[in-house]
Amino acid sequence: MFDVDKIRGDFPILSQKVYGKPLVYLDNGATAQKPQVVIDKVNEMYLQKNANIHRAAHFLSGQCTTEYEEARALVRHFINAASDKEIIFTSGATASINLVAASYGESFVGEGDEIIVSEMEHHSNIVPWQLLCERKNAVLKVLPFNDEGELEIEKLSALLTDRTRIVAVTQASNVLGTMPSLKDIIRVSHDAGALVLVDGCQGIVHAGVDVQALDCDFYAFSGHKLYAPTGIGVLYAKEKLLEKMPPYMGGGDMVARVSFKKTTYAELPLKFEAGTSNYIGAIALGAAVKYLNGIDMNAAHEHEHRLLKYTTDKLNAINGLRIYGNSDSKCSILSFNAEGVHPYDLGMILDKTGVAIRTGTHCAEPVMAHYGVTGMARASFAFYNTFTEADIFCNGVELALSMLK
Ligand code: ALA
Repeated sequence: MFDVDKIRGDFPILSQKVYGKPLVYLDNGATAQKPQVVIDKVNEMYLQKNANIHRAAHFLSGQCTTEYEEARALVRHFINAASDKEIIFTSGATASINLVAASYGESFVGEGDEIIVSEMEHHSNIVPWQLLCERKNAVLKVLPFNDEGELEIEKLSALLTDRTRIVAVTQASNVLGTMPSLKDIIRVSHDAGALVLVDGCQGIVHAGVDVQALDCDFYAFSGHKLYAPTGIGVLYAKEKLLEKMPPYMGGGDMVARVSFKKTTYAELPLKFEAGTSNYIGAIALGAAVKYLNGIDMNAAHEHEHRLLKYTTDKLNAINGLRIYGNSDSKCSILSFNAEGVHPYDLGMILDKTGVAIRTGTHCAEPVMAHYGVTGMARASFAFYNTFTEADIFCNGVELALSMLK
């Protein structure tokens, strides 16, 4: 049994009303709400413990540095990386992916080399690769998905060549909810000599990850979708790759010695953490991970899955409504459109009933192009959502359609 009421009690924001109606927050794919322990941690740091890390001999700095490095260890265990050196704190998944495209790409991708991305990627796992390909005169190839929202993994072998350097793919589509078989993608890509970067933004929330079991080379995620603050994220990379990659940004904290003749770089992971990092964000991410460690995450994911199934069945019963993404392996993200109705209008009316969803292109315009639409409505569920909220949402959709059609 998953005690959703108990979980909801941990998230103060959820008990408020908007427009006099109980808030039904179904925009978790964009950002998740924060438990009290994470908010308390941020307060504690600023009220009692703030000092810059890795830089001073004084008590506060030492204490903050210890907590920062403890957060790194918590993240390492959470994703089962082999070493703390493989955990780079960044500002978010976008920064993590850009780091790989810039640093690895700079040294190991050349003219005529190839990068493969999937058609269902978020812009942040497309544009950094396009920029790299433009810089290097390399070629970007696309692994398509079918109308059911399944990635056509069987076409990957034909796309891979001995020039393929990186395959960049999502663990879970932020529009379709599809969770492609990463193990197959990684195996086939490795057999062809290519590395694999996984965008874990949505996947880590709804399915967790074991990077060693997966054998991915790079894994990127953002803290704010994982119940931590904004502005903090993680790049996991295999140590042997990080060792041979050049620094991404230069500045303080990432150096060993600096002189005008020759600068040497800090050991991993600091080589990739230039400047004052968002150390309080990282420490708060550690608090979020600790919080999640105290929850039966399998039960949480099952609860999300039941919510998805329940809501999908209810929406499917509505005439003229189309759900995008019907994969058997799907996380609790539900995108849809109603015939003749603009998703934005739908979202506006739902908002007035207290229901928060996202509408638009979801930073995944190629997915919109696939279906020939300019936008979609999207409800994305977290483990703190309830069946009552699913009912309020579905009733709101019916109300909106009765007004708009
Ligand atoms: N990438 C986030 C989303 O899917 C912002 O909404």
